[in-house]
Amino acid sequence: MVSGEVFTAIDIGTAKIKTVIATFTEEKKLRVLGVGIAKSNGIRKGNIIDMDEFKKNIDDSLSEAERMTGEQVSAIYLSLSGTNIEVVTNNGIISVPHGEVSNDDVNRVLDMSQNGVDLMNKVVLKVIPESFTLDMESGVKNPVGMSAKKLEVRSHIFCISSNILSNIKKGIYDVGVDILDIYPNVLAAPEAVLSKRQKELGVVCIDIGASTTDVAVYEEGSLIFASVIPIGGEHVTSDIALGARVSIDTAEKLKIEYGSVGFCKDEKAKDDEIDLAKISKNETTTISRKYLSEIIRARYSEIFYYVNNELKKIGKDGMLPEGAVISGGGAKARDMNDLAKEVLRLPSMIGTPEDSDFISGTSIGDPMFAGIIGTLLLSQKYGVSRSGFKMNLSFGGFFGSIKNALKKIMP
Ligand SMILES: Nc1ncnc2c1ncn2[C@@H]1O[C@H](COP(=O)(O)OP(=O)(O)OP(=O)(O)O)[C@@H](O)[C@H]1O
Ligand SMILES: [Mg+2]
Repeated sequence: MVSGEVFTAIDIGTAKIKTVIATFTEEKKLRVLGVGIAKSNGIRKGNIIDMDEFKKNIDDSLSEAERMTGEQVSAIYLSLSGTNIEVVTNNGIISVPHGEVSNDDVNRVLDMSQNGVDLMNKVVLKVIPESFTLDMESGVKNPVGMSAKKLEVRSHIFCISSNILSNIKKGIYDVGVDILDIYPNVLAAPEAVLSKRQKELGVVCIDIGASTTDVAVYEEGSLIFASVIPIGGEHVTSDIALGARVSIDTAEKLKIEYGSVGFCKDEKAKDDEIDLAKISKNETTTISRKYLSEIIRARYSEIFYYVNNELKKIGKDGMLPEGAVISGGGAKARDMNDLAKEVLRLPSMIGTPEDSDFISGTSIGDPMFAGIIGTLLLSQKYGVSRSGFKMNLSFGGFFGSIKNALKKIMP
């Protein structure tokens, strides 16, 4: 039996559906109680392609985590990724009626910043203020209680296609749980792997998932840029399948067991051959390690090239003192860090969530848990309501909570 506030997060990924059930100690340290990982066969690039399979995968993942805790979950926080997540940066401006900025003024200006953004068939998931300007004074982080006639904000608006979201929600309700709030992975992953100091000094978090690479840049403690690049680990796998003429399953095994981003540079080892029969009984040939790593390196170089282009858009390429922190399952490729340093011209490190004293089984000290652990941390910080076991929570939740969440997600 578990006591205390319990938080459950489900991460809908292209490769895996992950569930983590956790609680927080008095010192606000995460304690994982249960982990569930299921295949993700019903969703591709964030779109549901098979509703029954999607529901089954969610149920499998959630049930596995529930079995570890011996309790039934009734409400969850959701982390979403995919190419249909869009980030738009915009400004909003209002006059301050009482000469002193209130919470209401802040909510109004954040609402205003959505004006002019094309939200046709889209739903706003989160609006994150970068900084406020009070009359002529710019760079204000929290303007509440300050004097001004005019309040301006620059904000980052995270949207998703409304059809896609309703299908995901339907699938989750059908499994029998409520959704308390939704965080885009691009916003959640950095919470688990970046320190306050890194965010202060300037850093980019690069979360390489299966279908997308999420980019989030921080400076002076605020999010200054975010975007989603539609390339990830599954592209590396399909390149191997095509290059080595093997099935996707064999290619995935080859990548994980023998792959490296840097091996092709090693002249002495260039003649090493991998016997494909060891991986699949359908295969009889071999592939050289050098060729395998050349394929992997080419796709990772492309990913970092696009990340660098995103940094160029804001004039931060090669200019972030704390460099790049790379998370997501794609960050586990061998020698990946060296390539990131080379292409991005930045210091680079792998971002792994801090492990918790999990009693048995899966450790969350793995870069692929960044998104879901970040979701739990954000939920604990800003959650509109707690997802305790067997609580009968109604869905006053997500849409009703946008304003509330905005209020609380201020830097
Ligand atoms: N050791 C490894 N070396 C290289 N790639 C790996 C390794 N382990 C996992 N990956 C890749 O990581 C990807 C899965 O990462 P992750 O779990 O973060 O994705 P996801 O959240 O399911 O996907 P997305 O967020 O894009 O929807 C897969 O493409 C997988 O091949
Ligand atoms: Mg992911």
